[in-house]
Amino acid sequence: MPDPRFARRTAWEFDPDPLGSLAERLRVRGELYDLTESNPTRCGFHYEDARIRTALADARNLLYAPDPRGQASARAAVQAYYQARRIDLDPGRIWLTASTSEAYSHLFRLLADAGERVHAPQPGYPLFELLAGQNDLELAAYKLHYDGGAWELDWESLESAWTPQSRLVLLLNPNNPTGAYLRAGEWPRLQAWAAERGLALVVDEVFFDYAFAPDPNRLCDCLQDATALTFVLSGLSKVAALPQMKLGWIVLAGPAGAAAAAIQRLEMILDIYLSVAAPVQNAATELLATAPAIQAQIRARTLANLRELDAGLSASPEVTRFAVEGGWYATLRLPRHHDDETWARRLLEQDSVYLHPGHFYGFSQEGCAVVSLLPREPDFREGIRRLLERVRQAS
Ligand SMILES: Cc1ncc(COP(=O)(O)O)c(C=O)c1O
Repeated sequence: MPDPRFARRTAWEFDPDPLGSLAERLRVRGELYDLTESNPTRCGFHYEDARIRTALADARNLLYAPDPRGQASARAAVQAYYQARRIDLDPGRIWLTASTSEAYSHLFRLLADAGERVHAPQPGYPLFELLAGQNDLELAAYKLHYDGGAWELDWESLESAWTPQSRLVLLLNPNNPTGAYLRAGEWPRLQAWAAERGLALVVDEVFFDYAFAPDPNRLCDCLQDATALTFVLSGLSKVAALPQMKLGWIVLAGPAGAAAAAIQRLEMILDIYLSVAAPVQNAATELLATAPAIQAQIRARTLANLRELDAGLSASPEVTRFAVEGGWYATLRLPRHHDDETWARRLLEQDSVYLHPGHFYGFSQEGCAVVSLLPREPDFREGIRRLLERVRQAS
C-alpha cells in the first residue's frame, strides 16, 4: 500500500524546540521570567467578568441565523468602535471573521493565485510566512529601515520586491514588533503606488489603540479617499484583549468598481465557511464596550514596563532600545559577544529569562531581542534586571 501523500504546503520542519521545552519546565516550577508573554488573559488584568459572562448568555445564542457578512448587530458594534475613533463606516463594508489571522487567509484567497506574491514588512509578524505558505503564496519582504530614531518604510526595497506577480502589500499600523505607526504623509504615495500596479493594500490595525503618546503625523484613517483596493483588519484579540473570543473583522475601501467585485467575491468566500460563532456575535456590542477599560490598563502596564526598561538601560549602555511608538513589545539590541539565538539560550538556561531572538521577527541587525511589555511589573522588572546583569557579566 502506498503511503498517504501530504501536501507540500504542510512539509514544515517539526524540529523540537529546546528553548520552548525548557521554558515550559521552568514555568511549571514557577521559575520563569517570561518576556515573550503576549497572552493578555494571563497577565493579571482586571476584566469585567460579570459583564462578559452575561453578554455570553444571550438567549439568541440558541438560534442559527447565518449571514456571511456577520450579524448586523455585531457589525454595528464594529462601526461604533470606528465612530469612537472619528471614522465613519458603512456597515455594508464590514465583514466579520473568526480572527484576524483567518481574515488574512480569506484575503489571500480573494486576491492572489498560487505562486503569486504578497509583500510584508521586515522586521514583522512571523505568522505571515505561515499564512502565505498555507495559501500557496510567496512571501516577499520589504524592509523597514531604522534611522537611529525611528523606523521608516524603505521604499527602494518595496519597489525592488515588486514583480508582475505581486498582488498585495501588508502594512501594520503599528508594526509588530517594532511598534512603529505608518505616517499620514506617506499614505497618498503608498495608495498611488499600489493603485498604479493594481495591488491591494491590507492594513493590520490590531495594535492601533496602544500608542504610548499622541502623534499628529500618525496615519489614523487609511480608509478615506482610498484609490487602491484597501482592506483594514482588526479584532477583539487585541482591541478588547480577548483573543479567546475569536472575533475579527475586515473593512473595505477603494474605487467603486473594484470594491463591488471584491464584495461579491469575499462574501462568497465567507459563505463557504460561516465561521463566526453566534455567541460572540451576539455579545460583540458588550465585549467591545469593555475595550476602553482594558486598553487603559494595558497602556498603563506597557508604559510602566517601558519606563522600567529605560531606567535599567540608562545604567547599561551595552544594551540599547529601538524607538517604539506603541503596541505590546519593545525591541532591544544586545552586545555582539553572541548572536541573538545564543543570547536567548543563555538567558533562559542561566537566568530563567525567556525572550524572543530578533531573527524570529526578521531583524537584519545582529543581536536583537524582542520583549513583551505585558508581564506583571515585578516579573518584568526582575526579568530585565537579570538580562542586564548577564550582559554586564559578559562585557
Ligand atoms: C500584528 C498581528 N496581527 C494579527 C494577530 C492575530 O490576531 P487574531 O488573534 O485576531 O488572529 C496578531 C497576534 O498576535 C498580531 O500580532
